[in-house]
Amino acid sequence: MSTAQKIEIIRTNNPKPKPADVSKLGFGNYFTDHMFIMNYDEGKGWHSPRIVPYGPLSLDPAAMCLHYGQEVFEGLKAYRTPDGEAVLFRPDRNMARLNLSNERLCIPLIDEEFALKALKLLVKIEKNWIPDGEGTSLYIRPFIIATDPHIGVRPASHLLFIIILSPVGAYYPQGINPVNIYVERKYVRTVRGGTGYVKTAGNYAASLKAQDEAYSQGYTQVLWLDGVERKYIEEVGTMNVFFKIDGEIITPALQGSILGGITRMSCIELLRHWGYRVSERPITLDEVEKAAERGLLEEAFGTGTAAVISPIGELKVDDRNIVINDNKIGEVARRLYDTLTGIQTCRIDDPFGWVVKID
Ligand code: COI
Repeated sequence: MSTAQKIEIIRTNNPKPKPADVSKLGFGNYFTDHMFIMNYDEGKGWHSPRIVPYGPLSLDPAAMCLHYGQEVFEGLKAYRTPDGEAVLFRPDRNMARLNLSNERLCIPLIDEEFALKALKLLVKIEKNWIPDGEGTSLYIRPFIIATDPHIGVRPASHLLFIIILSPVGAYYPQGINPVNIYVERKYVRTVRGGTGYVKTAGNYAASLKAQDEAYSQGYTQVLWLDGVERKYIEEVGTMNVFFKIDGEIITPALQGSILGGITRMSCIELLRHWGYRVSERPITLDEVEKAAERGLLEEAFGTGTAAVISPIGELKVDDRNIVINDNKIGEVARRLYDTLTGIQTCRIDDPFGWVVKID
């Protein structure tokens, strides 16, 4: 598809009222007035890009995405700057990762430049939906679904690429406050060779059972271990995870079952820029427990687009309870949160060129 392809715009006649109290937005509860859609048909490629009123899709009950989960998605945010402008954070990385996911799920690649142009146009049209308030943003959810009406298992020949927008507050009600997490022993998220390194619905469906059991035991989320030896730490909830042990900041290396988070990458770059020793390497649960016993476990936190930085205040390992940094927000987590959200909203300088304005 050519980047010059024209995007048709059909505006709604019934704009919705915007949520009145932005402090009560929560995450993913409201959707804006318009969405972007384009079709893929074998032989024709991606075509008919359009921005239309937000509303239900009409799908054949045999649509393949409903049966076999041939789906990929992304998550990024638009922010309102103090000058009232709309900006995005490293959106090119999301488009590149969408194609990485496409490749793994046998979905035809998109033109990243064109998809970004469409995304920017949609955000521009919905600019007034970007909430103004501490910790708020407009969450952007691009996704692709297989729509062939077919019950056999094979890659689809017909798909839809859709972008929807949701004004959001904090992902966890706790916000930046520390969460309690338990180490998941029974379930695994994914394994090497699987789909853990890409963003596809199945990874999240597979995580629900563990999340549900964690909630019912009073925990916010689980710490995922590797699916083979069950000893290496992989992720926390829907986030990447970092530990600070005796001055070294460690995050599990991307080895095929861990998502290459854009917040993860940005944290590593910021931490190195500040002079911290950062290691992307395998880290075992045992290493974390031993460090805690010796008083060397200084901080632990999750990173992701939705929650940004989520400090871990308590880690339950079987019948043992590790309290980290007195269950308080750590210095590194706080600095990362303030700097990332400051750059993302243009409240502080962006020496890295990460912020992209929507004009
Ligand atoms: C993220 O934080 O990047 C996520 O993917 C969370 C999302 C599943 C809500």
